[in-house]
Amino acid sequence: MRRAFAARELGEVTALGWSDAAALVAALKDGTPTLAIASIGGDNGTGISFIDALKREHPELPIIATGPAPNPDLILRAVRAGAVEFLVRPLQAAEFAEALDRVLAKAGMRSRSGRCIAVYSAKGGLGSTTVAVNLAFALARKDPNLRVALVDLVVQGGDVRVFLDIRPGETIKDVVEQQSSLDRHEFEAMLHECPDGVWVCPDPNLPDEGELLTGRRVVAVLRRLAESFDFVVVDCEHTLNERTLAVLDHAERIVLLTHLTLPAIRSLQRTMDLFSRLEYSADKVSVVVNRYGSKGDLTLSDLEKVLERPVTAKLPNDYRATIDAAARGRPIHIGSPKSKIASALDNLAVTLNGGPPGGKLRGGLGLFRRKTE
Ligand SMILES: Nc1ncnc2c1ncn2[C@@H]1O[C@H](COP(=O)(O)OP(=O)(O)O)[C@@H](O)[C@H]1O
Ligand SMILES: [Mg+2]
Repeated sequence: MRRAFAARELGEVTALGWSDAAALVAALKDGTPTLAIASIGGDNGTGISFIDALKREHPELPIIATGPAPNPDLILRAVRAGAVEFLVRPLQAAEFAEALDRVLAKAGMRSRSGRCIAVYSAKGGLGSTTVAVNLAFALARKDPNLRVALVDLVVQGGDVRVFLDIRPGETIKDVVEQQSSLDRHEFEAMLHECPDGVWVCPDPNLPDEGELLTGRRVVAVLRRLAESFDFVVVDCEHTLNERTLAVLDHAERIVLLTHLTLPAIRSLQRTMDLFSRLEYSADKVSVVVNRYGSKGDLTLSDLEKVLERPVTAKLPNDYRATIDAAARGRPIHIGSPKSKIASALDNLAVTLNGGPPGGKLRGGLGLFRRKTE
């Protein structure tokens, strides 16, 4: 039992006897218990009253009851008193671990295995920060139980802190340096908690601090974040250095941004060639057209012809909603909840959360044709 607790970083285990309910509740007064295992006695169900007393004092406390036999009457009484699971003694390690995970999942405490989404464009100014920030909130908005981490890896002058009006305490530099010595609670406390289920890890305060952020150390942080969050969204820098490549390799999905302009698409072409050489699958790379509907040199079908597959999403051009959000330091869905861009971001969140389209990346994209009018 202790091993199962230790594996899940559940902290200290305290064994208390059933001498009297009041003494038991008093013993728990000084701490906030995470979980209780109540061992119920034989025929008369000694211990049921303790579950009752515990529940009155700690209504949210998950309680696993254990009994000497799968006696339906005993199980019913334990559940009525507030136990969420009933296990027969002697406990089997696997059965106990499964029950523990079920209980922790229900209580939102289980170690998660979050998915990393890297938002990237080889050129600046195409909307990486806008999309990373607002995608993080769109993902979190899908379900109140979802927890999303947003990491600013634009190590020289990242904008996430500006887009969300954050005055950061700790930054990615501190998290990278300290993470290995922190327990989960301390680690999560280093992030900046925003409302609506998003936690931010901002860019370093000083430009030269980026040197500490090697690909290996940054990916270690992303792995750690995935244990606490359902999604880890990264705003990547535009330079393809060792760190960016490590993050792109690590990411389960890459949102690769473009505009329908020649310079943007030429840069997309080079990036897709590189991704193809790196053997990234088509499932991993989602091409997203930003500022769709603004004046461009090419049409969507031009782009899709050279991609040989549809783009994953089109985010409409909406100067007012994006500028309002960035200038006021809040997500688009707060200032412009009914805008087309807010709903396009919601749809992108759903797509990234669900099954990606299949297929393989092409070796190269061929030549582009200017739009002929
Ligand atoms: N869909 C959009 N419609 C209109 N303007 C946009 C859109 N997406 C981004 N922008 C604007 O484009 C500029 C660059 O966006 P930003 O997210 O900072 O790009 P990057 O992080 O790639 O440099 C910002 O002024 C932003 O408000
Ligand atoms: Mg940016």
